[in-house]
Amino acid sequence: MPAPRIVGNSPADWWNHAVIYQIYPRSFADGNGDGVGDIPGIISKLPDIAKLGVDAIWISPFYTSPQKDAGYDVADFQDIDPLFGTLEDAQALIDTAHELGLRIIVDLVPNHSSDQHEWFQQALASGPGSPERARYIFREGAGSSGELPPNNWESVFGGPAWTRISEADGSPGQWYLHLFDSSQPDFDWNNPEVWELFRGVLRFWLDRGVDGFRVDVAHGLIKADGLPDQEIIKDPPVGAGGPFWNQEGVHEVYRDWRKILESYGPDRMLCAEAWVMPLSKMAHYVRPDEMHQAFNFGYLATDFDAQALRAIIDESLEAFGGVGSPSTWVLSNHDVVRHASRFGADFVSGAHPTGSGPLSPNKPDTELGLKKARAATALMLALPGSAYLYQGEELGLPEAIDIPDADRQDPTFFRTQGERYGRDGCRVPLPWDSAEPANGFNSTGETWLPQPPEYAELARAHQNGVDGSTLELYRSLLALRAEENLGKGTVAWNEGYPDSVIAFDNSAITVISNTGSQPVELPTGELVVASQPVESGVLPGYATAWVRTS
Ligand code: GLC
Repeated sequence: MPAPRIVGNSPADWWNHAVIYQIYPRSFADGNGDGVGDIPGIISKLPDIAKLGVDAIWISPFYTSPQKDAGYDVADFQDIDPLFGTLEDAQALIDTAHELGLRIIVDLVPNHSSDQHEWFQQALASGPGSPERARYIFREGAGSSGELPPNNWESVFGGPAWTRISEADGSPGQWYLHLFDSSQPDFDWNNPEVWELFRGVLRFWLDRGVDGFRVDVAHGLIKADGLPDQEIIKDPPVGAGGPFWNQEGVHEVYRDWRKILESYGPDRMLCAEAWVMPLSKMAHYVRPDEMHQAFNFGYLATDFDAQALRAIIDESLEAFGGVGSPSTWVLSNHDVVRHASRFGADFVSGAHPTGSGPLSPNKPDTELGLKKARAATALMLALPGSAYLYQGEELGLPEAIDIPDADRQDPTFFRTQGERYGRDGCRVPLPWDSAEPANGFNSTGETWLPQPPEYAELARAHQNGVDGSTLELYRSLLALRAEENLGKGTVAWNEGYPDSVIAFDNSAITVISNTGSQPVELPTGELVVASQPVESGVLPGYATAWVRTS
């Protein structure tokens, strides 16, 4: 096995305790002013992210794509979309990250391709039963003349998971499966050619120096034999099963990939996006010969509630500890309502926290949401293991709720005829400096989604160096987490607090999180950081403090 590369101060198993910052390229920073973020934009702002004190970045897809699902519809896994730049730009990004001491992981989307991928185009041009069709999941329709979909599966974005094609002669033809948008046909992972394709993609990016991959829809690659009907559940809870989720066969794929990664050295990693519950099942993805990490979506879907948090933290430590892997923690990403808004509204614990819009019943209380979000982050960053941050949460950005229908882009909005707003509200271009066009996102003022007015005062430049700002809170938390080695520590619960409070020791720090409205007394010791101002040793409601007690 080759030696690990030296990047900053990170050890070979850097991911075990790392804080990883998610960059969503469309909305991070726009170098050419066309309204969509790009790689030169990312490179120009990367020093700010390094200064935040994170260990690594994860870049959502920047590959060639018609952008029907914001880049998760990939037409060429080994090239960059001109919207974002060139392969040379991607190489410069990888190198710049490393020079700044940041590890970099890229997104891998193995469940499906774009319908513009050359394989799918070849599949359409070739007839039923051809090897070209066998790379995807084509089936004859049901009904007397094949006019019905092959089974009752529903797309995650709404509507049927099957689309019927016209054959080359114009006659109504076979149906193909797409768990997501109709522009995202699912690969058939029973086909060895698909395995070979992705082995090549892994090597392509590893050769360019990436430190790992975030694996999209990791629990979806293998479908149940015979494609049996699914049980239709309205508003399924996080991690609900079904004949296309979490089939045993997926683990073979990750065992294969693990070997490829290890052939590049001990410092390359895989992180599973697997919405699988309970966590004991999710933990199967991070057994010693599979992936290295999985996003802890059980934690993400937990309300800011002391008892619920304690339960999910215990469950996480047990489930992941049971397979010898530190847990991850995450509160926000590009698919869920930003936690600064989620915690200010009635999102149900355990439910999938997607989409919020002008007519949603759960309008967030922004002030309360931000307080709880800061407290929740201060709790999360004190936990041992690895944490994921989503761009903009360090500014305390709320979800953009009032996006006009005409500006919405998420296929979920269209596939449900507007019934579900989808994920645009967490994907709005970042505010850097409100004195600049588009709050500093670019120099032209164009943005692919409109920025809400409240983004101006939350711009990074206005929080920089400002005591008590969310940005400075994140910086302090990250610096202290590193200094106190909290990522490598353990959780020892402190008892004796009211039910609305959780408290634990990790290394020399006692962490106390007040999820209720009533103030509580802090333990004796040196207050090192708090998510709200603390007076006379009393922690206000909806706040977290770190106290050095030993
Ligand atoms: C994952 C991505 C999401 C995307 C979907 C289909 O869940 O995070 O953004 O729409 O996969 O690729």
